[in-house]
Amino acid sequence: MGERDATRLWHPFADMGAVRDNELVLERGEDVWVWDSEGKRYLDATASLWYANVGHGRPEIAAAVAAQFKQLEAYSAFGDFVTPVARELAETLADLAPMPSRIFLTTGGGESIDAAAKIARRYWSAIGQPQRTLLISRTSGYHGTNGFGTALAGIPANREGFGPQVETLQVPHDSLEALEDAIQQAGAERVAAVFAEPVIGAGGVYPPLPGYIEGVAEICRRTGALFVADAVICAFGRLGTWFGVERFGVQPDMITFAKGVTSGYLPLGGVVASERVAAPFFEAPGGPVLRHGATYAAHAACCAAGLANIELLEREGLVTRGRELEGVLLDALKPLSADHRVSEVRGGLGTMAAVALSDELLRSRPSAVTDVVMGARERGVLVRGLAGGVAVSPPLTATAEHFGLIHDAVAAALAAL
Ligand SMILES: Cc1ncc(COP(=O)(O)O)c(C=O)c1O
Repeated sequence: MGERDATRLWHPFADMGAVRDNELVLERGEDVWVWDSEGKRYLDATASLWYANVGHGRPEIAAAVAAQFKQLEAYSAFGDFVTPVARELAETLADLAPMPSRIFLTTGGGESIDAAAKIARRYWSAIGQPQRTLLISRTSGYHGTNGFGTALAGIPANREGFGPQVETLQVPHDSLEALEDAIQQAGAERVAAVFAEPVIGAGGVYPPLPGYIEGVAEICRRTGALFVADAVICAFGRLGTWFGVERFGVQPDMITFAKGVTSGYLPLGGVVASERVAAPFFEAPGGPVLRHGATYAAHAACCAAGLANIELLEREGLVTRGRELEGVLLDALKPLSADHRVSEVRGGLGTMAAVALSDELLRSRPSAVTDVVMGARERGVLVRGLAGGVAVSPPLTATAEHFGLIHDAVAAALAAL
């Protein structure tokens, strides 16, 4: 095909040379299903990009957004402006959060990471420790693709080729000792914050070792660094709680969220900032001002989608279901590990799992991950390729029967290699 026929849309994270003439056009969705432009039905085993927690096509969210549009589509939240729906969402989120907090709203996960990084640095400068600027993250961690998020990337390929970046340090994702050492070596008085996903998602679905998240919280408490839990994937039921971190009984200094807060119906994210972090900014007129924020932060229609989505999650018991399903999903996929081309099936914490391919297969067949993704797709199941395997994170409305279909499609795709 010539230049003129290629798509005009530049896709994120895409080999456009291959995708330019080969897009998968999805037209319609209902619950765990989506349909392409040729009418073929797929099981959405990834809830799109880890976000469609209540499933697709829910009329309740559409109605709430339409009602908000009729009232006032949007108004800025800069300075003293606010809409009732933004206030209500902030109240609701603060009530659900595991620690007393204030809510800073953004339009997505990466923006929430950048907001949290800047809040951390601004907090330290506001309380007289401006030298605390260093940010620490974990190998295999994914924190979006904005400026700070790129620098925090624990997947090296996501940092490469973009030139000099903000100073960060990556530590092995499963070692508390390495974190402690890194803080000591850098000088505890220089560390602004430690970023950690409760369960690493895009980097490969790695549940933390027992005690790891609790240990991070403790090291941060002891060294003064702020603990930022990146719950962009893990919140809103994915781990069976509102913000994921409750599974570990910790109270981070900040929690970043997005995705499941609206189940992706409209773009919204934010930062749950503990009272400790928010206090200098809220204390009295004339205090420090956080000169950070996006035009569409606290967008009224997005907030309406968030409230309607939270109501659905609550009413249908989907938050606790995220935990009830964790064993069911793992049990459904575990038999895949009997295949010599599979090195392990990871998961068991929340409704998310990964099927890791063997090193030998990855070496002998560099296209193996793509081949499994495409093989499952041919069989009507959408899974997501990761470094070394495929991820599964279906809507929280999915059932054991759907998990069986995912298993069968991946098994058949492996067999066809
Ligand atoms: C843990 C985590 N943090 C941040 C982000 C970035 O979110 P967004 O893509 O909305 O910018 C993601 C996206 O997948 C994520 O998984």
